Amino acid sequence: MKIIDEVRDNVRFPKGEDGVKTLKRMNEVHNKSAIWAINRVNICENLDIEILDIGFGGGQNLLNLRDKFKNSKLYGIDYSPTSLDVAKETTKNLKNIYLKIGDVSKKIEFDENKFDIITAFETLYFWENLNVAFSEIKRVLKPDGVFLLHLEGTTKKTLDEWSNGVNLKNKLNENEIYELLKQNGFKKVEIYALDSSEIRTFIAKKQ
Ligand SMILES: C[S@@+](CC[C@H](N)C(=O)[O-])C[C@H]1O[C@@H](n2cnc3c(N)ncnc32)[C@H](O)[C@@H]1O
Repeated sequence: MKIIDEVRDNVRFPKGEDGVKTLKRMNEVHNKSAIWAINRVNICENLDIEILDIGFGGGQNLLNLRDKFKNSKLYGIDYSPTSLDVAKETTKNLKNIYLKIGDVSKKIEFDENKFDIITAFETLYFWENLNVAFSEIKRVLKPDGVFLLHLEGTTKKTLDEWSNGVNLKNKLNENEIYELLKQNGFKKVEIYALDSSEIRTFIAKKQ
């Protein structure tokens, strides 16, 4: 069933008209928990910092990040050209924002030790190569920077259910994500839980 496969693949790789609809829907449905996640970052809000959002999708989190970090420069990568178009439209009134195509499972084109904060909301499920991705994130994160990883599905049960509708590459539970971050050299990893749900924000630091 090619058509159904294409529709369900729009969460992983938004494409065409259905991709645009999916991105606009995700801008709304992910928003509340993403704002909560951003508020777990304990960095002074007025600093002139550089932030990278990986897998920005429809771009709502770039607005949310700028709401909190008002003097930040925002960068974003996403491997979907449709995501890039929609996010550019969403953020058209923002200054100091630089969005481009990029795949975090491959080499990403930023200098090392560039970013104060790197974020990834609802996207790790799809990354083809987690070791490359984490090593690249570590490379471009400043020594005292913060990596925020936010996921709404962190149990096998939920991820198995989602697999019926969405193509997931990584179905990791909370402990597996914690271990993976540690194995990939993030020395400090804090986990925050939203209410009694399985929504988790991981705040990982290199030192
Ligand atoms: C479920 S959407 C989440 C979008 C947004 N972060 C949010 O929370 O609403 C996943 C996004 O990650 C992007 N993505 C998936 N794998 C990626 C990769 N390896 N590198 C960059 N972007 C990726 C997809 O194109 C899509 O825009």
